[in-house]
Amino acid sequence: MNDEPDQPGHTVIAVRGDAPYDVVVGRGVLDRLGPLVAGAARVAVVVPEALEAFAEHTEDALSAAGVEQVVTLSVPDGEEAKTLGVAEACWEALGEQGFTRSDAVVTLGGGSTTDLGGFLAAAWLRGVRVVHVPTTLLAMVDAAVGGKTGVNTAAGKNLVGAFHEPAGVLCDLGFLETLPPAELVAGLAEVVKCGFIADPEILRLVEAHDPADLRASSPVLRELVERAVRVKAEVVSADLRETAGDGSTGHPGREALNYGHTLGHAIERLEDYRLRHGEAVAIGCVFVAELARRAGSLPAEVVERHRAVLARVGLPTTYAGRTFDEVAAVMAVDKKARGRSLRFVVLDDVGRPRVLADPSDADLRAAYASLSH
Ligand SMILES: NC(=O)c1ccc[n+]([C@@H]2O[C@H](COP(=O)([O-])OP(=O)(O)OC[C@H]3O[C@@H](n4cnc5c(N)ncnc54)[C@H](O)[C@@H]3O)[C@@H](O)[C@H]2O)c1
Ligand SMILES: [Zn+2]
Repeated sequence: MNDEPDQPGHTVIAVRGDAPYDVVVGRGVLDRLGPLVAGAARVAVVVPEALEAFAEHTEDALSAAGVEQVVTLSVPDGEEAKTLGVAEACWEALGEQGFTRSDAVVTLGGGSTTDLGGFLAAAWLRGVRVVHVPTTLLAMVDAAVGGKTGVNTAAGKNLVGAFHEPAGVLCDLGFLETLPPAELVAGLAEVVKCGFIADPEILRLVEAHDPADLRASSPVLRELVERAVRVKAEVVSADLRETAGDGSTGHPGREALNYGHTLGHAIERLEDYRLRHGEAVAIGCVFVAELARRAGSLPAEVVERHRAVLARVGLPTTYAGRTFDEVAAVMAVDKKARGRSLRFVVLDDVGRPRVLADPSDADLRAAYASLSH
């Protein structure tokens, strides 16, 4: 694997590509912030107001590294931060402070902060360095890794953005101690997803441990974070720009990370984002497992394993909030926006994802109906 022997307690996972970088997982990893911003006279720390208490440590680490000026860019919490208005206010602040190409941005927060901060950095002077310090499980295993950044507009969520690889990602597990349990559980949906698409050991770990052990301080959670980061790092290293899967193996490339997301996104939208993303994705994973059983050859026991593992960590596995026709209509709009067929990532087995395009209406209906109980 990618791990390098390193400082004890820190696991270093490499993301390859034109602009390679490391994701470091452990405790006390913020000590590594200094070298990642070396040469920057000014650093902007993008942090939601709600998490400003976390910024002190980051700012100390930057000052200790000799950064002359640390500017805190305080942004709204959650999705409220992901607007062009907030981005513009941040760019104005960078201008006022005289940020140059050799200066840097640090994001400190969940995925909404890393998405906004990454986008700011991608566009300011056509691209300055960004270091992500994710503080939610979802941001550690997903949003902060892979270089996708963006904001929401009237046209839809995440339609405006840029690919901008960070200079580094520092996942300090200590942050997870204050994360509300429901947020932790939502992040576990992406972890379990990584288990199904690429790393069955993730599933075994969840099955073997008491769910109550999946807390910030537990070695199991740490191993799950590392394994999920490795899955994402491997997938994005192989397909940096989501252009295509590897034609020779039939692997869907980066699209594999969308496992459970086609239906998940539709449910999120229909429920007006009252469900957390991870909760909707969990339902979406059960759906595509049922679909693969009908439209492919996924064994029934693997479908049941989806339900069991997701439910074990506290995620929903049933949904009957809307009719199939309502859900199908939203998925059809999404398909139109993306200009291609209605695509689902399905499994032939654990760790063997492929794309299923335009499955039959009967299979879709039957898979959806199976979510009601
Ligand atoms: N770029 C990508 O590849 C990618 C991938 C997945 C998701 N995303 C984006 O990520 C966003 C969701 O990220 P999220 O789930 O991290 O949500 P979030 O950033 O909205 O954070 C969720 C909540 O947790 C709070 N919080 C964060 N860290 C905390 C901590 N350590 N202790 C206590 N509270 C804390 C935040 O203040 C917020 O209220 C979405 O906007 C999504 O589009 C991007
Ligand atoms: Zn997701």
